[in-house]
Amino acid sequence: MASRMASSVFRKGLFKDKVAIVTGGGTGIGKGITKELLYLGCNVMIASRNQEKLESGAKDINAWLKAGNNHAKLETLPCNIRKEEEVQNLMIKTLDKFGQLDFVVNNGGGQFISRAEDIKLKGWNAVVETNLTGTFLMCQGAYRHWMKEHGGAIVNILVDMWKGFPIMSHTGAARAGVDNLTKSLALEWVHSGVRINSVAPGSSIYSDTAAANYGNIKIFDTIKETVPYHRLGTVEEISSIVCFLLSPGATFVTGETVRADAGQSHYSCPTLKIPAHDKIPPYSWQSDVTDDDS
Ligand code: ADE
Repeated sequence: MASRMASSVFRKGLFKDKVAIVTGGGTGIGKGITKELLYLGCNVMIASRNQEKLESGAKDINAWLKAGNNHAKLETLPCNIRKEEEVQNLMIKTLDKFGQLDFVVNNGGGQFISRAEDIKLKGWNAVVETNLTGTFLMCQGAYRHWMKEHGGAIVNILVDMWKGFPIMSHTGAARAGVDNLTKSLALEWVHSGVRINSVAPGSSIYSDTAAANYGNIKIFDTIKETVPYHRLGTVEEISSIVCFLLSPGATFVTGETVRADAGQSHYSCPTLKIPAHDKIPPYSWQSDVTDDDS
């Protein structure tokens, strides 16, 4: 077959006039994803249970949008993804505001550190309901309200739970459930034109939110030792993969989970000690297109 390649999907304005919902979009990785989507022209509704975090995140993002003369729009809506009626409301309000729903990024989640023997049923249920049931309700809500008729793309954000998740067994189990859910929904909804994939960031992704959650910034020094790159990851190194999976560049990918952990989850071979190096620099680039090019 002759090559038809004459250009690429990767350009400014890639998501112009598209609409996304990002849960947990006001902080950490979710905020990074929201900014990259907006940069690419996508209108974004960010949703979170915590109204204070949502508003302070939106204030920062709006200031950044204004400074960049970016015309994509940001909206906020408090939503507890554990509650079906709040998820319905999020879908309805997003469609009222923007008239369509092209993408959903299920990034909102939460857990706490505890040995399994000490987890109370209430705590176990809360973590499973947020991370697994909440993600399911978001996917189902988006499908019923829009994507069944119009198609769309969904990305679920997981964690590195591939070898179990001691001291956070609840979230490990819930996120492994989302990995499996991703595959089931990809097959059930493919005939509607819906693609659904996941991204599993490693524990080395640094954000101020992650640092505050750990409560001890020194933990990142320990984590760094377990990463074959010998450095921490950035939220941009996650958001670029999310944007790729949502984009027409990934039309032939569904039901897949991308591990974004610099090989950390594969690094358990006791006979190989990777020497300290700085050979894989963080993702950054200088834009070489002007607004007129987009
Ligand atoms: N982020 C963490 N927990 C959440 C929840 N229950 N709903 C929405 N966003 C969240």
